[in-house]
Amino acid sequence: MDAREQPIGVFDSGFGGLTVMRSLIDLMPNESLVYIGDNGRYPYGNKPAAQVRGFAVELAESLVRDHGAKLIVVACNTAASVALDVLSASLTVPVIGVIEPGARALARVTHNGRVGVIGTVGTIASGAYDTAIEATGADVELTSAACPGFVEFVERDQTDGEEVTLLAQRLLSPIKEAGVDALLLGCTHYPYLAPVIQRVMGEGVVLVSSANETAFAVRELLDSRGLAAPASHAATRRFFSSGDIDTFASLGRRLLGPELVEVSPWHSGASS
Ligand code: DGL
Repeated sequence: MDAREQPIGVFDSGFGGLTVMRSLIDLMPNESLVYIGDNGRYPYGNKPAAQVRGFAVELAESLVRDHGAKLIVVACNTAASVALDVLSASLTVPVIGVIEPGARALARVTHNGRVGVIGTVGTIASGAYDTAIEATGADVELTSAACPGFVEFVERDQTDGEEVTLLAQRLLSPIKEAGVDALLLGCTHYPYLAPVIQRVMGEGVVLVSSANETAFAVRELLDSRGLAAPASHAATRRFFSSGDIDTFASLGRRLLGPELVEVSPWHSGASS
């Protein structure tokens, strides 16, 4: 098969990476995509870095070996923050994570030079955003906050209401106090909470989603390597989950949209 027609492989610890899938579908409707949600081992955000790294390697290798992925998108901030280096070194195909594209956009949109990042405990503790912001060379001051509990609200499909608003007010207060004018949603689940986060932060703060930025980076990389699917290519989208596939299908379809038709099981340690 023409290498350009091979799918892009995408993985996340669960549903969150579907925000990246949405952006990829919208920006590149003729690219075939294969997604694995590791719901069976979710959450990653509070697990040791070495364990998350092992999961990431296994999922990425499966996407290349079993589906012939031409490019891997690590659509999970926690996994990208601890495993991007090992994946880039070990895989035969290019790898893109959600950290650097988001950090670049954040540095670009701020006017007052004060920016914020929110993510899981694992992502914030890894310091990956501090490194990525520094690498942009921009003169910005970064305030970060872990938001334990946000992901659980999304997984319960409870994306608005008093409870999540109260939690947001508490967790976002250090970011508000820092006077940021741009806030990166550094966890793939958080775009689903954008209305709540925007209300709490106020109209003057720009929310940056790593999902869109990552999709732009993917398109750039495919174009530069001559790997973009031809316009005539009839795209396919396949979904796998290591958790309950019926739950993945019903909640996933509500989160992603009608493109999520069927979900197949993915088993750790076996070919899917
Ligand atoms: N997908 C993870 C991330 O983007 C959030 C969910 C989890 O903790 O596994 O950081």
